[in-house]
Amino acid sequence: MRVGILTAGGDCPGLNAVIRAATRRLLADGHEPVGLLRGYEGLAEPSQRIPLTEERVRGILQLGGTILESSSFDPHHEPRGLERVQAAQASDPLDAVIAIGGDHTQWVSRRLHEETGLGVVGVPKTIDNDVVGTDRTFGFDTAVQTATDAIDKLRTTAQSHHRVIVCEVMGRNSGWIAAAAGMASGADQIIVPEVERTVDEIAAALRGRHERGHTSSIVVVAEGAALTFERGHGEVVLAAETPDSYGYARIGGIGARLASELEGRTGFEARVTVLGHIQRGGSPVATDRILATRYGLHAAELVVRGQTGRMVSLRGTEISSVPFAETEGVRPVDPALLAAAAVFY
Ligand code: F6P
Repeated sequence: MRVGILTAGGDCPGLNAVIRAATRRLLADGHEPVGLLRGYEGLAEPSQRIPLTEERVRGILQLGGTILESSSFDPHHEPRGLERVQAAQASDPLDAVIAIGGDHTQWVSRRLHEETGLGVVGVPKTIDNDVVGTDRTFGFDTAVQTATDAIDKLRTTAQSHHRVIVCEVMGRNSGWIAAAAGMASGADQIIVPEVERTVDEIAAALRGRHERGHTSSIVVVAEGAALTFERGHGEVVLAAETPDSYGYARIGGIGARLASELEGRTGFEARVTVLGHIQRGGSPVATDRILATRYGLHAAELVVRGQTGRMVSLRGTEISSVPFAETEGVRPVDPALLAAAAVFY
């Protein structure tokens, strides 16, 4: 079988571990893995393809980013996109595709599978850990470790200067990174999109801490949290008016707004740190390498067995798979994690 492998959407640590695992499994069974460059662009353009050999995937297990590069290319939205995919299939046919991506990529894969009959197996990736149909996406643990290390550092300087430090973390519309990194670093408040909060409530909690003898506080806020600053409904702070290349709103900036509001309402000196893309870069931690490897092996096995139209998934400790139809939506943060973290506020 000729099997295309692609990485689409925002990158995350562990992509290369999946590429390596799927390639090695396919080669071992006598198949031909083909690297599709820059996401789905490589499916539409045969010139954007490379042979995946044992040499090509040597030494990439621990490497951040993706050797296949990534993009937001969606054949449904590109001029003549689907026609180009069909022409590429005629001139350089593939028997199936392993598409490594987040919720948007699973959706594109599902449509391609249903509309063109192309056999696609999805692999869920994202630091946000918000893909429906799996208990865990690889990349998440590395992002949480990076954020935890950063918050530990913020803690010592906050203590020295009796400050409130607000740390804004990624996660788009989910609070997984904030909840996990906040819990791991003993944050004094964790603000996530899934739970409505007002600034007054957070200010009161910080005042309460100071009355109990604390002289500094760490507030971890997910970039997509909708806070109520004044009367009325919660609002998400946007980094820019224009949407990103997927058409999604560009979220960001809530940390600065929250720090200044908290300083105004409590009188405690406040600072903000936005961790940004540092959470997405660098070498994957061991648990992400292991999960990514298990996903890559299973994706290759599904393709070879002809079980396409599915996404590999982790259920408990077991690797399995779910139909694309069961991957729609955004998986919210586990409330039990937040409740456990809140015991220490
Ligand atoms: O989905 C992963 C993610 O890193 C989100 O946490 C974040 O909101 C977004 O991607 C940032 O995207 P971009 O790289 O386009 O700025």
